[in-house]
Amino acid sequence: MYNKKILDEFAQPKNVGALADANGIGTVGAASCGDIMKVYLKIENDVIVDASFQTFGCAAAIASSSVATEMIKGMKIQDALKVTNAQVVEMLEGLPPQKIHCSVLAEEAIKEAIADYKARSTN
Ligand code: FES
Repeated sequence: MYNKKILDEFAQPKNVGALADANGIGTVGAASCGDIMKVYLKIENDVIVDASFQTFGCAAAIASSSVATEMIKGMKIQDALKVTNAQVVEMLEGLPPQKIHCSVLAEEAIKEAIADYKARSTN
């Protein structure tokens, strides 16, 4: 079901684990399967200087988290907000149709983490 790129990312995901000094954290869940993805961001001057994740989910969700966190490192938050699940799927060289929702989790978790950062900054 999975291509080699997905299997490689699943076997050796990048950016796994909590980020101790994160200042933006987003947690989202997929209603259809019950899987959960948590994205941690360290943001300085509106630039994502570090990103990590904890995903309690399927191989596609873990692979999506891995490429998505890699993708947004070094990005300005306004650019990271434009990252779509379609880009995540492209980075994974395709996902089976029934696994597209797993990549949506990555897009949503990034947006949640940035929203958390913004909420903290206004306090
Ligand atoms: Fe739940 Fe993939 S099946 S995130």
